[in-house]
Amino acid sequence: MKRIVTLLFLAAVCTSAMADEGMWIPMLLGRNEADMQKAGMRISAKDIYDINNACLKDAVLLFGSGCTGEYVSPEGLLLTNHHCGYSFIVRHSTVEHDYLTHGFWAMSRDQEIPCPGLTVTRLVRMEDVTDMVLEGVTSQMSEGERSALVESNIKKITAKTESGTHYKAVIKPFYYGNQYFMYVNEIFQDVRLVGAPPSNIGKFGGDTDNWMWPRHTGDFSMFRVYAGDDNKPAPYSPSNKPYKPLKHLEISLSGVQEGDFTFVFGYPGTTQRYVTSDAVELDANIENPIRIDLRTIRLRHYNNAMNQSPAQRLKYASRVASIANGWKKWQGETLGINRLKGVEQKQAFEQRYQQWAADKPQYYNVLQQLHNAYSQLRPIEVELVYFSEAVLASDFMNRANTYNRLANNDNEEEVAELVEKLRNNNEKYFADFDQHTIVDRAIFVETFLYMWKAGYAPYLGETTMTEAAVEKRLGKIYDGSLLNNPEKINAFLKNYTVKKAAKLKNDPAIQLYSQAYALAYDPQKLAQYRRAEQDIRRLMRTYVKGMMEMQPDVNFFPDANLTLRVAYGHVAGFRPKDGVYYKPYSTLQGIMEKENPDIYDYVVEPQLKKLYNSRDYGRYGTADKQMPVGFIATNHTTGGNSGSPVLNADGRLIGLNFDRCWEGTMSDLLFDPDYCRNICLDIRYCLFIIDKFAGAKHLVDEMTLVQ
Ligand code: ARG
Ligand code: GLU
Repeated sequence: MKRIVTLLFLAAVCTSAMADEGMWIPMLLGRNEADMQKAGMRISAKDIYDINNACLKDAVLLFGSGCTGEYVSPEGLLLTNHHCGYSFIVRHSTVEHDYLTHGFWAMSRDQEIPCPGLTVTRLVRMEDVTDMVLEGVTSQMSEGERSALVESNIKKITAKTESGTHYKAVIKPFYYGNQYFMYVNEIFQDVRLVGAPPSNIGKFGGDTDNWMWPRHTGDFSMFRVYAGDDNKPAPYSPSNKPYKPLKHLEISLSGVQEGDFTFVFGYPGTTQRYVTSDAVELDANIENPIRIDLRTIRLRHYNNAMNQSPAQRLKYASRVASIANGWKKWQGETLGINRLKGVEQKQAFEQRYQQWAADKPQYYNVLQQLHNAYSQLRPIEVELVYFSEAVLASDFMNRANTYNRLANNDNEEEVAELVEKLRNNNEKYFADFDQHTIVDRAIFVETFLYMWKAGYAPYLGETTMTEAAVEKRLGKIYDGSLLNNPEKINAFLKNYTVKKAAKLKNDPAIQLYSQAYALAYDPQKLAQYRRAEQDIRRLMRTYVKGMMEMQPDVNFFPDANLTLRVAYGHVAGFRPKDGVYYKPYSTLQGIMEKENPDIYDYVVEPQLKKLYNSRDYGRYGTADKQMPVGFIATNHTTGGNSGSPVLNADGRLIGLNFDRCWEGTMSDLLFDPDYCRNICLDIRYCLFIIDKFAGAKHLVDEMTLVQ
């Protein structure tokens, strides 16, 4: 009896420890169905994924190559985040028609703007193909032989699947290659921009609020998918018709309450849930601090410049957005890992694993070997981080990289082409060079100096040199290089032939770049790195297999790998620190509280203010005259989940996922239900902006709204 009680108790601990964590495979959702229904879901796993009938998965799409989108109308209208549509909105913006700043709304179909290069991908079906992929693989094979065979099996299977169809098949490893799934996809190429709010709605709060709660960003944009006459994917053509999806999402207007069941259906990119303590230590305590420091330097200089003029703001806005996004996330991640004692937690688990493996020869050595492989990998990995975050921090060194390629190319035709391109680039690059050079030079000098002080740029001088001397040397390189002299470089390029390569190779910029490159990418070290990587891949496969054998009752979710997943949890606030409780929703009132006409990120559109002042929220406001804007929940999400539909217990759309709370960004490695929250745009705010703010009610009329 006592034993049964203990077992039951353990089982309860087990499931509750797993609650909210996980990104599940739609095809295998049957395993979670009971748990999801217990948590409040009123639909079935088959409503979400079913190969025989139209189901929710038919409405969920990979948007471009790294975001999620979803159909919200029978006419192929789709929603995704503003930051996912960003580059397309920018691309169509000019000074006269600045859609990024002022927003864009197609008032009729013929105003919808084609976006060449943008695709959306619908999953037709998925299949477990492990046996076929591993056919012929034996335990005696080397890792290289195994990979080659797997690769060739995959080619055969996908070719066979695609043959005679318009589908594209991809096979991806799961659980570090213990399992393989094939995804059969349909890819649409005619995707058109339909609507985007102005930046001070779509990006309200900017990088200041990024990764943070409470949040008030109206992070959405709209597109429409077009298809050929047969409703199948077709290249862009004016005669294409709006695509008729097998399924579009119904939208719930009833909103969310704390505790409500929610699930997120989308394409999470990468997580590392099962890595060892060494990997966590490397990521959180070695690499992140270096990356953060180096990006702090760059951001300081760019932000200074951006505060000086609107032109400079425009110039640096998108690079700052991307530099700052990682910079801020890594800070939250490292803090979170250390608060949870992530490394120690992993070590404790490894000890248990080791005890369990004591009498299992196939598993006994695996942790020690992984530890050895990480020892091989670590020093080189750190150098590579320095290379990408410090050496390549300035435009100057990126240019040196390009010119170095030119100097090492002796194919006359290619050289001519490259020279032509460089001359065009230079015209743009030098247009505001006087200003830019101040920023770029400072970044170049400071990042290299940081690296030299850390001992990673020995070519800059002995450790006995003074900092001032190294700084002076760097300044001389910057100022003395041909690459920073508009007249000289243009004249040089004008009559460039391969015979002039020697002169280029002697330029101080190219000399420095080559030294840095030679150090980080030394062939011997690189070979060691590749070997370590391969070892880690092989060993993780064994380690994770053992982990699953060790805990047969745990339903393991596979790490994210940009395949369609379901994460479920509930709407919940949290306590980020002592004395503070974050409520799970935000409202338009918060936008007014943040308003500051002098701070770019907090400018509020006059029209939005007007609607707020008259509480003119139409059917989208709450009974107590509030306009909901965002909410948070315990769904386990990561990059790639941007734009993912957030659905309620009935499978209706209640929001768009767009971010995570800073205190929980360690969830790629370690999920903590007390801190990990995804941030969602409330669908009612999205509809309010489309209808009341933009006057594009015709778009809302296409959708299926349910009270
Ligand atoms: N943090 C979100 C994500 O990882 C949003 C990034 C875009 N927004 C921004 N302010 N940079 O993608
Ligand atoms: N903003 C992220 C994206 O672009 C989602 C936030 C996250 O990393 O969870 O996918």
